[in-house]
Amino acid sequence: MKRGTLLTLAAGAILLALPTVSRGATTIAGTAHDLSAQAGWGITEICVSCHTPHNAQATQLVPLWNHTSTVASFTPYTSGTLNATVGQPDGTSKACLSCHDGTVAIDAFVGGGGTHTMTGGALLGTDLRNDHPVSFTYDLALATADGGLVTPASASLVVTDIPLFSSKLECASCHNAHNNANGDFLRVSNAGSALCLKCHSK
Ligand code: HEC
Ligand code: HEC
Ligand code: HEC
Ligand code: HEC
Repeated sequence: MKRGTLLTLAAGAILLALPTVSRGATTIAGTAHDLSAQAGWGITEICVSCHTPHNAQATQLVPLWNHTSTVASFTPYTSGTLNATVGQPDGTSKACLSCHDGTVAIDAFVGGGGTHTMTGGALLGTDLRNDHPVSFTYDLALATADGGLVTPASASLVVTDIPLFSSKLECASCHNAHNNANGDFLRVSNAGSALCLKCHSK
């Protein structure tokens, strides 16, 4: 994504589309992920756009997943220096992309209208070659092969605040869909590139 050129456009789109977004919120209410804050969308609950207590999707990308899942074919990140084996997005990353790749409506769930599709800077599309790699195993072997990575503490944790999912780095390793206190739903603030330095020894 060309962030420099999209920044102004994206900011404008967010202001127009989401007048109630609060970057300082410590919970999900009032953030971009609170679809009940969308005027005219007819959604009265917060969690329902992603979870349901009963009759959840058979393929649970995340616990009690309620959103229609993307079936797109993605072009994964690649480079000449990458050590990881990166394939199609899975698990929580596929869940994020079920709204953020633009192929499925944001409100495609029981009780949603199914008519609003992602636009602007938050639309990642299906070509992920310009996005940080996701859905690959991040373990001791990878850290050793790369030479510039922090060794993960366990199969479920890199370091404090940075989770892995079945040993894999996913969108939700860097982001927490429920908390926008740091802006961009980041797990930790990226001031001074602190987020990057949780995993990269640079
Ligand atoms: C925009 C989508 C989205 C919304 C809305 C959402 N979640 Fe989640 N939730 C996720 C994703 C993605 C995961 C899996 C990644 C993770 O664990 O962070 C998850 C995981 C969870 C988990 C299991 C992991 C954990 O953090 O304990 C719980 C519990 C949960 N959500 C509860 C809720 C509740 C309660 C609400 C409403 C107040 C809610 N979620 C709203 C996307 C969402
Ligand atoms: C139910 C649909 C849905 C799901 C699932 C979802 N998002 Fe979002 N997300 C949105 C919408 C809607 C916006 C606001 C888009 C806009 O600004 O135009 C958004 C915005 C964002 C933003 C920008 C926030 C800001 O303050 O500008 C980030 C970062 C983000 N999402 C990450 C994620 C990640 C990571 C996941 C998975 C863990 C995820 N989203 C899952 C709907 C979703
Ligand atoms: C390695 C960490 C990392 C991973 C993995 C990651 N992101 Fe992000 N993401 C960030 C950071 C940091 C930002 C803040 C903006 C920036 O620095 O470019 C961001 C910004 C965003 C935005 C806002 C973009 C904008 O211009 O409004 C969205 C949406 C988003 N991420 C979604 C995702 C989704 C979906 C995935 C998984 C496919 C993902 N991210 C994986 C670190 C990550
Ligand atoms: C959750 C841990 C984690 C975080 C946080 C993280 N990265 Fe990564 N990053 C990795 C891993 C693991 C790889 C795969 C390295 C490899 O296979 O050589 C990677 C790959 C990359 C690559 C591609 C390397 C290549 O050889 O093609 C770049 C560039 C990169 N990260 C930059 C960043 C930046 C910039 C940030 C902060 C915005 C960031 N990363 C945050 C773990 C992380």
